[in-house]
Amino acid sequence: MAAIVIDGVAIAKLIRTELKQHVQALRARGIQPGLAVVLLGENQASQLYTRAKVGACHEVGVYSEVHQLPADSDESAALDLIRRLNRDPRIHGILVQLPLPPQLDDGRILEEISADKDVDGFHVHNMGKLLAGASVYPPCTPYGVVKLLDAAGIPIAGRDAVVVGRSVIVGKPMALMLLERGATVTFCHSQTRDLAAHTRRADILVTAVGRPGLISAAMIKPGAAVIDVGINRLPSGKVAGDVDFESVKAKAAYITPVPGGVGPMTVTMLIANTVRAAERRIASEPAGLHVAP
Ligand code: GUN
Repeated sequence: MAAIVIDGVAIAKLIRTELKQHVQALRARGIQPGLAVVLLGENQASQLYTRAKVGACHEVGVYSEVHQLPADSDESAALDLIRRLNRDPRIHGILVQLPLPPQLDDGRILEEISADKDVDGFHVHNMGKLLAGASVYPPCTPYGVVKLLDAAGIPIAGRDAVVVGRSVIVGKPMALMLLERGATVTFCHSQTRDLAAHTRRADILVTAVGRPGLISAAMIKPGAAVIDVGINRLPSGKVAGDVDFESVKAKAAYITPVPGGVGPMTVTMLIANTVRAAERRIASEPAGLHVAP
């Protein structure tokens, strides 16, 4: 039987409807959650993602602003901007779009973001909290994957999960989040000797590599849930994931499409983290401060 195709667009829409209610409740208290996106350089994919993030903010009622710096910006220009955004009361979440131009050090830039405004969850403080099982801002893509699994009713505890890819943005936090939910987790990466031997044991397979056709039907356990985080532009101009969708669909129990699977969830969980940042700020401030006159 063909797999159930998990509809990320529909699930993201449901979560955005819930988020709108949170935003309305905040606005009734005189607060509009605000997100600042920092874009360095002209990377086309980054510009596309930024437009999607700004559009989602608009849809849910979150204020957003984009700060575009030239590709040849030095570290001090980026750090000055981040420090200014850290102090700006209108801004609850700050996101620096990756990848950065080569002259800039990701770690140095990301660590300047106030941990309270780090809605991407990439600051070492928030990565440490994730490792400790006390995450405040889970990184948006793996957070979206867990939400998709939950929405589709796919159990995680006790299952064998395999994560292909070990990036800081997806692979590493993904594995930690599945582990936290009780899965037995295996990491695979470019130096894994027999990838198929691992993927064939996966009840839940998450792939985030960026190589179209990497995962074929022969590499899948019958009945698996296959979550494709890859986004690849094919020579034909079409977008595809890492998974050979048609053949794997015939063997898996659940599969996410590309586009329309994980992508809409990433953007939605960024908004969720921004709304949470605004709610946390109210909770940490003295009562009465935000009561309208
Ligand atoms: N580049 C690709 N994905 C992401 C993401 O989730 N956050 C940021 N900041 N940059 C990215």
